[in-house]
Amino acid sequence: MTLVSNLPTDPAPSQFDALEQLILTRSATVGVVGLGYVGLPFAIEKTKVGFSVIGIEQNPKRAERVNQADSYIDDISSETLNQAISNGKLKAVTHFDVISEMDVIVICVPTPLTKNLTPNLSYVESVAQEIGKRLRPGQLVSLESTTYPGTTDDVIRPILEQISGLQQGQDFFLAHSPERVDPGNQRYTTQNTNKIVGASDSQSLRVAELFYQQTISQVVPVSSAKAAELVKVFENTFRAVNIALVNELALLCDRLDLDVWEVLDAANTKPFGIMPFYPGPGVGGHCIPIDPHYLEWKAKEVNFNTRFIALAGEINRRMPSFARSKAFRVLNQLGIAPSRAQILIVGITYKKDLADWRESPAIEIMKFLLKDQVSLRYHDPYIDHISAAGQHFNSVPLTDAEIARADLVLIATDHSCIDYGNLVAQAKAVLDTRGATRKIECDRTKVTLL
Ligand SMILES: NC(=O)c1ccc[n+]([C@@H]2O[C@H](COP(=O)([O-])OP(=O)(O)OC[C@H]3O[C@@H](n4cnc5c(N)ncnc54)[C@H](O)[C@@H]3O)[C@@H](O)[C@H]2O)c1
Repeated sequence: MTLVSNLPTDPAPSQFDALEQLILTRSATVGVVGLGYVGLPFAIEKTKVGFSVIGIEQNPKRAERVNQADSYIDDISSETLNQAISNGKLKAVTHFDVISEMDVIVICVPTPLTKNLTPNLSYVESVAQEIGKRLRPGQLVSLESTTYPGTTDDVIRPILEQISGLQQGQDFFLAHSPERVDPGNQRYTTQNTNKIVGASDSQSLRVAELFYQQTISQVVPVSSAKAAELVKVFENTFRAVNIALVNELALLCDRLDLDVWEVLDAANTKPFGIMPFYPGPGVGGHCIPIDPHYLEWKAKEVNFNTRFIALAGEINRRMPSFARSKAFRVLNQLGIAPSRAQILIVGITYKKDLADWRESPAIEIMKFLLKDQVSLRYHDPYIDHISAAGQHFNSVPLTDAEIARADLVLIATDHSCIDYGNLVAQAKAVLDTRGATRKIECDRTKVTLL
């Protein structure tokens, strides 16, 4: 890969050499700011190859749980966490005073949207300020949070340089390496997923590349932090747009009286030129519904309209309401008015086999149904309680009696541990928004697919 050849060469070989040695001998101390879905697995990976890691986590409960080896992240077992804690390779703190002890500082804090769907960089900015106050020569700072192109160079760099009086490339190193972790994915983990790294000076790029190479099979350098930022938001935009495309197909198939799942299964038999994406009740989590809007916002700044992003967002946001109308169609066929109906939602998380209900479309569906005065219960093996539209709900056990009590069981997320054969057998009617029942033996007359 020759992408970096045109970068200016920089001075400061001594700072570079010193950090290079610390990284190569794995004696560098690594700071991870934000121990969430990204930060905690990242921290563990680094301890496994010998680095000492200090996590800075503002939530004292999370910091305490890390130190007690009590994991709150699905992909990290408490046993794995315990190994890192008990061998003294990992500890969590709630303050930034430890920054000067670190050689590499990795930022993994949230990058949400404001109510108006514009980037909210307040977490990143406040962390940059805290780091800036304590930055010392020879440190590498790497941003892992997903963000719009330009954040590292135009937002973080000025904060670090102005507060510390130090200069990037000369005194310290700064890079962007977007996290690609796919929570719950057993096949691709942080270790075997290629990692993009970009920086605006060659020393920063080289030292960041070296750092990531210690734990990741293939590191892919790009010529700037800005390019690395765009790679990540493009990847998530690609998913959002393709999911929207199959969701639109589902809306069309509903009008044409065709089974969208059958059509997609058949289309996916083509060995080239197509990729499997599946329809559902909408998109959720902290990436797909959010990241494309970061790019959309940045594009507007340069007077450019990202029409695919807007369209995909519009279609994906329509899906919870489509799920509601399908539910009402089923109730109508059963002769039950929505305000008299009891619906059991199965699966509340945004994705299967994961304890994360952030931005979950299941919550949107619940909000709609509550407005329609439907009597609602939910079951999710991963989430004990939730609130939706100001109401509190506890997960009910998925007993035969609970299933049979509902007029309609609405599968909003297809967790693998659920016995869908029994669910259909016990239920009066099932609305399956995920295709969970498609490959099992069951009474199809009871099941409506999205
Ligand atoms: N979750 C994913 O699947 C995923 C995948 C790839 C990229 N990302 C991106 O990674 C970033 C982090 O996402 P996440 O899912 O890990 O978020 P998260 O909410 O799970 O974790 C973030 C952590 O940062 C902590 N935090 C917030 N402000 C802090 C501060 N000032 N100091 C110290 N700690 C602070 C929070 O308490 C929380 O524990 C986001 O930009 C996200 O878009 C997420």
